[in-house]
Amino acid sequence: MQSSTGLFISFEGIDGSGKSTQARRLAEALRAEGHDVDLTREPGGSEGAEQIRALVLEGDPDRWSPETEILLFTAARRDHVEKRIRPALEAGRIVISDRFADSTRMYQGQSRGNLRAQVDGLHEMMIGLEPDLTFLIDMEPDLGLARAKGRQGSEERFEDFGEGLQRQMRTGFLELAAAHPERFIVIDGARPPDVVAADVLDRARERIASAGLRARAETP
Ligand code: ADP
Ligand code: TYD
Repeated sequence: MQSSTGLFISFEGIDGSGKSTQARRLAEALRAEGHDVDLTREPGGSEGAEQIRALVLEGDPDRWSPETEILLFTAARRDHVEKRIRPALEAGRIVISDRFADSTRMYQGQSRGNLRAQVDGLHEMMIGLEPDLTFLIDMEPDLGLARAKGRQGSEERFEDFGEGLQRQMRTGFLELAAAHPERFIVIDGARPPDVVAADVLDRARERIASAGLRARAETP
């Protein structure tokens, strides 16, 4: 099911590809144009989901079985959708999420065995929402990994899987984009941040216009 009256935009891609930077910049640009925008992220985005984020991203990486991990990410998403995303969309707002269900399809669906069927089944049963528009920020994994490693922090859960997994993720994301051309836009993330941001904004404006969403200032 697509979102109702607002517009739901997600950013996807490998670690360090520039999703957070671009999600923030798009939110700022659209706000400056008079749109009501909620910027959020996964795992997290609501109080309960942020608590689950700490459970899945910190501590011993083998703490959870692959199946339990799917349940935790999906539980976090369910709370995020219930408490934050759906209410905002129903109020006609633009929601921009730094990662959403495609990340679970890729990371939990293929990093620790082929669990894609379980991921898809749980998504259908418990989430049932897809973004209207997904920006895949694409680049060579070694570049993303070098950027990600430049950051400090304790949330190194998946970055530590190294370049082999990131390469598999990149291929998987590109396949997902090819399978869902109606919502995916692939963006070359290896360019300077301003160039990427201008590209993303242009493409977002096109979708906003075709969705019939109007900025506040234009509303009579
Ligand atoms: P992600 O959310 O995909 O992990 P971030 O937006 O956090 O990526 O970016 C990872 C790092 O790379 C940050 O230090 C950020 O400042 C830097 N960065 C982001 N976009 C670019 C870019 N286009 N070129 C160079 N560095 C970038
Ligand atoms: P994020 O904070 O977006 O990391 P990064 O900025 O490095 O891209 O996400 C944290 C990690 O969580 C990231 O390695 C991907 C992983 N993740 C999953 O494994 N499954 C999911 O459903 C989501 C949303 C994230």
